[in-house]
Parts: sequence; C-alpha cells; structure tokens
Amino acid sequence: MSGKGLFITFEGIDGSGKSTQARLLADHLTAQGRDVVLTREPGGSPGAEEIRALVLQGDPDRWSAQTEILLFTAARRDHMERTILPALEAGKVVICDRFADSTRMYQGLSRGDLRGDVDALHARMIGVEPDLTLLIDMDPTQGLSRALSRQTKEERFEEFGEALQAAMRAGFLALAEEFAARFRVIDGARAIDDVARDVQAIVQKRLAA
Ligand code: ADP
Ligand code: TYD
Repeated sequence: MSGKGLFITFEGIDGSGKSTQARLLADHLTAQGRDVVLTREPGGSPGAEEIRALVLQGDPDRWSAQTEILLFTAARRDHMERTILPALEAGKVVICDRFADSTRMYQGLSRGDLRGDVDALHARMIGVEPDLTLLIDMDPTQGLSRALSRQTKEERFEEFGEALQAAMRAGFLALAEEFAARFRVIDGARAIDDVARDVQAIVQKRLAA
C-alpha cells in the first residue's frame, strides 16, 4: 500500500513527547545513511499548513466536530499527495507526527461518537494506513503540563482540558488493540533517551524484517 518506503507515525496525547521522539528517530536513521522525511499533521505541505492555522488557532468552539473531520481530512489528502506518497515511492522512510489515528480519536470521540464518519471519509479519501504506529503513552496530567508549558497559539485542543486528554489516552490504547499489527505502545513517562532507545529498537526490528 505504501510503495517501497516505510511509513512510520507517532501518536499520543498532547505533550507525550511525539515531536521530540520523531525528531530523534529521524536523526538516528539519517546518521545510518537512510533517506528520511520528517513531517507532521495537521500540516506537512504548504496547503495543509494553511489549514493547520485554521484548525489549531482560535476558540475551542470555532468549528463543529463534523467540520473538523472535513478540514483535517482535506489537509491530510494534500499532505499525502504532495509529501508522503512521493517520498514512499522514492523508497524513503517517512516519519509523521500524528496521522489518521488522531482524527479517529480527537474528532471521532471528543464530541459524541463520530468514529463511523471519520472511518468512512478516510476509506474514501485517504485509504492509506502507516506500516508502523508508535503510541507514546502517558498520564494526561503530566502530558498537559508539558504541552501548556510550550506557550504557543495552537491551543484549541489543549484548552479542552484534562478530562478530554484522559479519554484520548484510553481511546488510543483501545486503538492500539484494534490495530495491533501496526501499533506498538511505548511508556512515555521516562527520560527522553530511554524512550528514544525503545523507539529505535522497534524501528530497527521493522526495518530488518
Ligand atoms: P508532543 O509532540 O507529544 O506534544 P513534545 O515532544 O513537543 O510532545 O514534548 C512536549 C514538551 O515536553 C517539550 O517541551 C519537550 O521538550 C518535553 N519532553 C518531551 N519528552 C520528554 C520526556 N521524556 N521527559 C521530559 N520532558 C519531555
Ligand atoms: P500537534 O501539533 O501534534 O500537538 P501536540 O504537539 O500538542 O501533540 O497537534 C495539534 C492538535 O491537533 C492536537 O491537540 C491534536 C489535534 N489533531 C486533531 O484534533 N485531529 C487530527 O486529525 C490531528 C492530526 C490533530
């Protein structure tokens, strides 16, 4: 499905350490001489970065969950066409900070059960799943305090608060069971280097397979 390359995604609640670990993994694989594309969602292509500003800034109730499903999927479609698929076709390792599992969780669970709509649109418009998904799991209180200490303008979801983050954590763990073949769960409540060592070991095994 994903051509000759390897498509790796990081998932988890806000502040769990995804961006940090995605960057460290990209550095590690690059040092081994691999061709790596490090990217993120929402975003990862010029058009999708414009949509990112629309969905992450402003009031928490700026968009309904249904509108968000469309916006995040539109961003993903552009990101996939312009960044992800060309890189995979060229045999590169694509490391993406969040992907469709985030839509399954944030839009699918946060304001009622819209998982069916998320999955239907995904099947129709995206139709690609990662080869490997690394879920950085951690306690939401710790994650949120890390995330809010960053002080960015992109706080629409962080402002939904701790109860939502707790639901997201449980949802991600359930998703890891649902898609057990591609998910690996990593304990994120440890030192950055310890988490990175686990990430590298899992990816190395997958690259050798
Ligand atoms: P995410 O992308 O999941 O939101 P980040 O990688 O941006 O998380 O990390 C959020 C904050 O926590 C950053 O300031 C980062 O430096 C810090 N951080 C990341 N991993 C750890 C860790 N294992 N221990 C302590 N702080 C961490
Ligand atoms: P991100 O920049 O990864 O935030 P963080 O570093 O805090 O984890 O993602 C921004 C927010 O966008 C995050 O709160 C989750 C949300 N999001 C969705 O709601 N749906 C999606 O499909 C994606 C990709 C992200």
